[in-house]
Amino acid sequence: MNMLSLQIVVTWVHVLFGIFWFGGTLYATFILGPAVMSLPPQSQLALFRSLMNRKAPLVFEVVGSITILLGIIRGTLLGPVQTLGFLLGTAYGITWAIALLFGLGILAWSHFVTTPASEPIAQAMAAGDTASARRVIPLLLVELAGFFGVFTCMILMRFGL
Ligand code: HEM
Repeated sequence: MNMLSLQIVVTWVHVLFGIFWFGGTLYATFILGPAVMSLPPQSQLALFRSLMNRKAPLVFEVVGSITILLGIIRGTLLGPVQTLGFLLGTAYGITWAIALLFGLGILAWSHFVTTPASEPIAQAMAAGDTASARRVIPLLLVELAGFFGVFTCMILMRFGL
């Protein structure tokens, strides 16, 4: 396989996983969240628990990690970021570094903040605090802010910046 074919394949998979990761978070925040909160408390709790079981967050972590890994490969082995000078001395290099930091930041935030918050929230719901599901929203908004940052970087790199 030549360089161009490899770049096409890696970009194809990278973008597919990226839209799964980003799009899944948009869907959770703006469609699934409001739908869960419109249900009666008993159903809210059951759905919230089944959505936040160990598997669902794991799917996002795997998808996110693959997106980042392919972004690293696409930028370095299959891209122009091959020296420290390029990384820190060009617009593209700096944009790529910012994308990497945002990507790792989102992954860390969801692993260490959003996912661990779900069990205490489920317990508060079980204890009758019907509004507690709302506490996930600001956590998801932080992730979305990161995604908008990454997404901006992707567009900038497309134009060589
Ligand atoms: C949610 C996360 C991400 C999404 C949705 C995403 C999406 C995209 C899209 C749509 C493109 C194609 C741009 C084009 O060619 O027109 C792209 C390219 C690229 N992405 Fe990402 N990406 C994400 C995360 C990352 C991360 C974290 C990195 C760095 C580690 C990265 C590195 C790259 C690179 C180097 C390119 C090629 C840019 C070029 O030279 O044209 N991506 N990404």
